[in-house]
Amino acid sequence: MFRKITTLIATAALSALIVSSAALAADPIVIKFSHVVAENTPKGKMATKFKDLVAERLGGKVQVEVYPNSQLFGDNKEIEAMLLGDVQLVAPALSKFERYTKQLQIYDLPFLFKDMAAVEKFQQSDKGQALLSSMESKGLVGLGYLHNGLKQLSCASAIKVPADASGLKFRIMTSDVLAAQFEAVKAVPLKKPFSEVFTLLQTRAIDGQENTYSNIYSKKFFEIQPYITESNHGVLDYMLVSSTEFWMGMPEDIRKEVKKALDEATAYGNQIADSQDLEDRQKIVESKRTEIITLSEAERNQWIEAMKPVWLQFEKEIGKDLIDAAYQANI
Ligand code: SIN
Repeated sequence: MFRKITTLIATAALSALIVSSAALAADPIVIKFSHVVAENTPKGKMATKFKDLVAERLGGKVQVEVYPNSQLFGDNKEIEAMLLGDVQLVAPALSKFERYTKQLQIYDLPFLFKDMAAVEKFQQSDKGQALLSSMESKGLVGLGYLHNGLKQLSCASAIKVPADASGLKFRIMTSDVLAAQFEAVKAVPLKKPFSEVFTLLQTRAIDGQENTYSNIYSKKFFEIQPYITESNHGVLDYMLVSSTEFWMGMPEDIRKEVKKALDEATAYGNQIADSQDLEDRQKIVESKRTEIITLSEAERNQWIEAMKPVWLQFEKEIGKDLIDAAYQANI
């Protein structure tokens, strides 16, 4: 009798083990990648590439689901959603991490980087790489940088010199540095989510906004903004982040493969960012819906002079060393 009971228990335990292993084998790790831009942008294309690489190499074990266009969460919510475990990967603009670290504000300083090569050089330097771990105490792990490009000013009226922007309302991302940048030219900055920008412009609740050509094109801002001032006054790049809990919770071998796919997809996104910028600029020109205003050196210098005091304003929070190192990347 005793032997029969023991055999029954052993059989039940074995079946439970088989069922749970089968369930494990059947349930891949799901990585929900939420972002706010269109699919035909550097970030949108990078996300699709990552999904494809993971499907090819880790199919059955890991599954990437991409949610573009603020479909799942808007930019005010996506980092919170990740910390709550509702999504596992996001790539917000560097301006959107202010609540988690002040150091990343470096990327918002106006006219700090002369071109995207300088941005890349700083990001790959020891100091730039160290910033990837600047939010560890908040439970966020930085997995890499992704480029978009330099920002331009789109507006309902033609703006050439800082005085033209005085009194105008500009939508900005959630960054105090960007607020200070517009206040420096006596404009009125308004922190609003990306998903609301088109309607705010269309209803004339705001006069203008700052963004890259790929975002201005893919979100059709150029159709409702008659002027774009080609100011190249700041950078709009991204950091790929996950929650430490999710990232470190993956088995090591899987995590390594996922990171490899992520690095390759990011390299691809970075490689196409420049050409996408030029192509989208060209499409905007060909549309004849908006005039692109190029600045003379003297006009651009006026913007630099008006906005540069913002560096000093944020020097204590960001760190002089970091600002100096970023500036050195231009040389
Ligand atoms: C993005 O490129 O992810 C959005 C930029 C913005 O909010 O303007």
